[in-house]
Amino acid sequence: MVNQKEWTKTSWRNFEALQQPNWPSEKEVHKVLENLSILPPLVFAGEIRSLKDMLAKAVIGDAFLLQGGDCSENFSQITAPKIRETLKVMLQMAIVLTYAGGKPVIKVGRIAGQFAKPRSSDTETINGTTYPSYRGDMVNHAEFSEKARTPNPKLMLQGYNMAASTLNLLRAFTRGGFAALDRVQAWNQEFVVQSPMGRSYNRLAKQIDQAIRFMNTIGIPTDTPQVHQTQLYTSHEALLLGYEEALTRIDSTSGDWYDCSAHMLWIGERTRQVDGAHVEFLRGVLNPLGVKVGPDYDLDNIKRLIDVLNPENEPGRLTLITRLGMKNVEKVLPPLLREAKKEGYNIVWSCDPMHANTYTAESGHKTRNFNDILAEITCFFEAHWSEGTIPGGVHFEMTGDNVTECTGGARNIIDEELHNNYLTSCDPRLNAEQSLEVAFQIADMIRS
Ligand code: PEP
Ligand code: CO
Repeated sequence: MVNQKEWTKTSWRNFEALQQPNWPSEKEVHKVLENLSILPPLVFAGEIRSLKDMLAKAVIGDAFLLQGGDCSENFSQITAPKIRETLKVMLQMAIVLTYAGGKPVIKVGRIAGQFAKPRSSDTETINGTTYPSYRGDMVNHAEFSEKARTPNPKLMLQGYNMAASTLNLLRAFTRGGFAALDRVQAWNQEFVVQSPMGRSYNRLAKQIDQAIRFMNTIGIPTDTPQVHQTQLYTSHEALLLGYEEALTRIDSTSGDWYDCSAHMLWIGERTRQVDGAHVEFLRGVLNPLGVKVGPDYDLDNIKRLIDVLNPENEPGRLTLITRLGMKNVEKVLPPLLREAKKEGYNIVWSCDPMHANTYTAESGHKTRNFNDILAEITCFFEAHWSEGTIPGGVHFEMTGDNVTECTGGARNIIDEELHNNYLTSCDPRLNAEQSLEVAFQIADMIRS
């Protein structure tokens, strides 16, 4: 039965909440959450509404969503260079996709708050010793010791502060000239020169150059906000419901509830039970929501989820992020698209080609192959085109760093090289070059 009862920001507490840490002291948790609940919001209702308006355009194919960032952000990696490099790659990808698709690209980072992870098991055992699983930097530490792995609620406060300082820098970078179009395109030119596959990307890069030069020639001033500035929205998995509740505020201009921890929040594949606490919490906040959909989805269940989370069928409210795996996508995506089309649901369809293409290399590293990622994206676009639905976006785990976490790409990283610069504490990310390559490949697909 769909829950029709009145929503409050605490009503989720009456439902089963999966994937929550076993905090050693509820009293400590309460103290931290009280503290968080009086701290300023991280993002503002007006910004959240603009993102929703943009996503409404993606529903009908007038905009395209690019969501990306770390699987799990680490406090120790929150430095100006790292934030800058990730932003830089997202901006570069966005220009390529904007030009190729002929529509605005909505940039949403998995950033400034992606600090909590669902795990397949509550505990981890190494050589006969068992400790709680690492659940993200906002819960405990990755190091394998009792002290490090014991959940510590104070880390939620630190997470809030880390998110605030990340956002502060992102706001400065996106407004202060760093994101200027000609500058981002110059970085793309550098990439094309350096990439072993550069020649095949050269034509598109040149065309973008020409478009920018044309704008300059006809006298469009390059210091206008449209050319000089950009907007990067933030998102994370809304997993730790106490934290999300503490940052949920009433917007004084509209009287509506918004979760002000990020612009967009998503529910993971493991916590999207229709009668679970995560769905109960998120149904009441007006942020744009993402829902991950894996290959074993049940169609009726997805329909109930859509009805609960978007009862008014508001465009821009709901993004379904399919993560089906390159082996399954061809078979399991079309029935979902057909049913959604039949029901007339307004949905942004986004493709996460990462999470169902993970495998363990012989070296023991969790990895993903570039060609599998590309194959899932290709099938995603083809399924939409043949069903007459709209491929509205893509979702990546990626970083601006030169990591070796995913295999393949133009430099053809092989299993044996993964250890060279394998830095993630959770899932493997595309590095800067691999991310740009994906963007150029998608550009090819959507232009032809
Ligand atoms: C993630 O996005 O990092 C994640 C855990 O995804 P999913 O819920 O799709 O497995
Ligand atoms: Co992940």
